[in-house]
Amino acid sequence: MKPDNDGAGTGREGLSTGLSNFWMPFTDNRGFKAEPRLLASAEGMYYRTPEGRQVLDGTAGLWCVNAGHGRREIVEAIGRQAATLDFGPTFQLGHPQAFELAEALAALMPAGLDRIFFTNSGSESADTALKMALAYHRANGESGRTRLIGRERGYHGTNMGGTSVGGIGGNRRSFGAQVWGVDHLAATLRPEAAFTRGQPDSNEDMAGELERLVALHGPETIAAVIVEPVACSTGVLVPPRGYLERLREITARHGILLIFDEVITAFGRLGAPTAAEYFGIAPDILTMAKGLTNAAVPMGAVAARRFVYDRIVDAAPPGIEFFHGYTYSGHPLAAAAGLATLSVYRQDELFARAAGLSSYWQQAVHRLQGARHVVDIRNLGLIAGIELAPRPDAPGKRAFEIFHRCFDDGLLIRVTGDIIALSPPLIVSEAQIDEIVDRIGVMLKVVD
Ligand SMILES: Cc1ncc(COP(=O)(O)O)c(C=O)c1O
Repeated sequence: MKPDNDGAGTGREGLSTGLSNFWMPFTDNRGFKAEPRLLASAEGMYYRTPEGRQVLDGTAGLWCVNAGHGRREIVEAIGRQAATLDFGPTFQLGHPQAFELAEALAALMPAGLDRIFFTNSGSESADTALKMALAYHRANGESGRTRLIGRERGYHGTNMGGTSVGGIGGNRRSFGAQVWGVDHLAATLRPEAAFTRGQPDSNEDMAGELERLVALHGPETIAAVIVEPVACSTGVLVPPRGYLERLREITARHGILLIFDEVITAFGRLGAPTAAEYFGIAPDILTMAKGLTNAAVPMGAVAARRFVYDRIVDAAPPGIEFFHGYTYSGHPLAAAAGLATLSVYRQDELFARAAGLSSYWQQAVHRLQGARHVVDIRNLGLIAGIELAPRPDAPGKRAFEIFHRCFDDGLLIRVTGDIIALSPPLIVSEAQIDEIVDRIGVMLKVVD
């Protein structure tokens, strides 16, 4: 195909092709292709554009490159594995790396969550977790438990199950057809908690709403409740103190499985291996992806409590017990990347590092309180959401302009609606934290 142009001075440097064929995900394709912004390489805390500009990574890519870019140990492990066993099926066969990684992950999970199923993404992890819950209840003789409960403003990826339990209007409305029998809890954000540092206190029993849904539908119809411990993708919604504890208590009382979607929060984002450990609450099923391989090879995983696994396996007649899986479940390259990543996290003590930095992070991001347009700032661990007032007739446009201008100025942020979401790699320095906040501060002054 003929290149759209030679690229000089247009943001297309380094491209020898046109832009039309790649139907880009979650992208304003028309806007991007008119004014592309490309990445060429990455190392440590920085991306580099094809023109050679450095871009400080304030978002760990897409909440996933927790150990920083281009980690030699991970790159080499992938290369070695590719040269040794490029692919090996895990249907009725196996290879050592998948078992080793499962054992290493089980050791990182809260006690009891030690049965690990591999997927290739967060979306697949969410749908796998939901199917596990359905299969568990069937195996348990409660096949009426088919209802799934999610939460408004929750994000569980883009497969059918995850889209259905997710609570993002745009994602759901575009498709119409959804998994039947889903209901949603309300989102936990309250205007009176604006500018809370860490978890807000609340006198309201927000999780008590689950009791209402249980009374409405009947506990015997409900298979699982799925929530992100901290809802990140829709703008960093930190649950009030006591909320997750109450969800755990209500689900346990009614025999409903509790699923924590930790695709973002696992692997140190809150300064602990998992949010479950950070909050001291053990779900029945926990989903992961992103930081599992430092995003170097796609991989997701689902950790299930042993009783979930045992029930499904024991109830099945001899043969395959759980009719689910992916060609690439436990792919050798991903498993090698995962093992190397866990070893980097361990050697560099990155989870403890994130915990140690979290109060500096909190102080820094809250310096933007009082800045133009800012109506709320929320944070936990090494995550922050900076919510801006929308332009009266153009919601999302203000933050999107800031996103573009920050990138052109050498800083990668993420925006969702009019919320700036930040999640730097856990190797970020204090000086880089200041730089992220200062650069955003400048943009808030110049962007109307
Ligand atoms: C909590 C959560 N679940 C699931 C997903 C989907 O992950 P993926 O894009 O790898 O399918 C995401 C992605 O951001 C997420 O944040």
